[in-house]
Amino acid sequence: MSSTFDQTKISSELREGAALPVPTIRPRRLRRTAAMRRLTAEHRVSASDLVQPIFVVPGEGVERDIASMPEIKQFSVDRAVGEARACAALGIPAVILFGIPPEKDDEASWLARPDGPVQRAIRAIKFALPELLVIADLCGCEYTSHGHCGLLTPDGEIDNDRSVALLARGALSYAECGVDIVAPSDMMDGRVAAMRTALDRAGHADVAIMSYAVKYASAFYGPFREAAGSTPAFGDRRTHQMDPPNAREAVKEALLDVAEGADIVLVKPALSYLDVVVRVRRAVNVPVAVYNVSGEYSMIKAAAARGWIDEDRAVDELIVSCKRAGAGIIITYFAKSIAARLAKAQR
Ligand code: PBG
Repeated sequence: MSSTFDQTKISSELREGAALPVPTIRPRRLRRTAAMRRLTAEHRVSASDLVQPIFVVPGEGVERDIASMPEIKQFSVDRAVGEARACAALGIPAVILFGIPPEKDDEASWLARPDGPVQRAIRAIKFALPELLVIADLCGCEYTSHGHCGLLTPDGEIDNDRSVALLARGALSYAECGVDIVAPSDMMDGRVAAMRTALDRAGHADVAIMSYAVKYASAFYGPFREAAGSTPAFGDRRTHQMDPPNAREAVKEALLDVAEGADIVLVKPALSYLDVVVRVRRAVNVPVAVYNVSGEYSMIKAAAARGWIDEDRAVDELIVSCKRAGAGIIITYFAKSIAARLAKAQR
């Protein structure tokens, strides 16, 4: 079939660029040089945005690797202070503590003990570094022998209201050690109000609550459960953590926690839920935090170790995406390494 166009004429015109509209608006102007990109960047990550998680275990002089989370360790209280000091020196404003108790039982007995790992770590870190904010994660799952986030009824269901009372006792025991922020991550109903009341009645009105208001039942917590030894012995967390298809419900959970007295609301995980961060940011007028969780950390570490991705670039892209979505506080296992790179870049 012969074409009605003169192919040779058209391609020579295209080669010369004639006869084509010339763009008058050229967004590329603002991307020309590194300085131009820096000047026009809409968001910037700084060490002040970051929170480093620290896993605290019993014993002394312990620094134990976590196989699924390269470069993250379990620390005994004495070593946790050193880790916290390293974070503070890098300009990170806060650490979040997770505790692994010496024993687990059905009633999570170690959760509210004054000699529990988190309680001891709070006291030691606040003593050594009074200006560093100490956040304590508050949940039953590291303390129960069955690995569930709350206490069970005789037929093996999670007993919401009995679990809330346990968490309120835990919040009080953290407050007594000098914690700055308690962070309930259990997803029981009504726990923020219960905790606020318990704290206020005991004279701890200054202790803030950062609630994991929007926590999804996610596959991305896998490596954390190795780090905290908190894999449920039976069943899963779908009866209390949120269902991934739901976003309107996330706004409901966030508004509910703010009404109950949450000072900061958190969305977790980060990467598959940035749309949720956007919605929550629009709905509330308190700071919004996001938790870049263990599985998100391990995926990057694993791919980088194989040379499949550039770790630093991937991390920077991921963390700035959290800011772009509207999170002002980012909990991430990369906090120390990001802050160290930022400090180096400034020198
Ligand atoms: C519960 C808790 C979990 C995480 C933080 N708090 C685990 C879970 O809900 O199963 C996960 C954090 C991560 O994966 O990095 N105490």
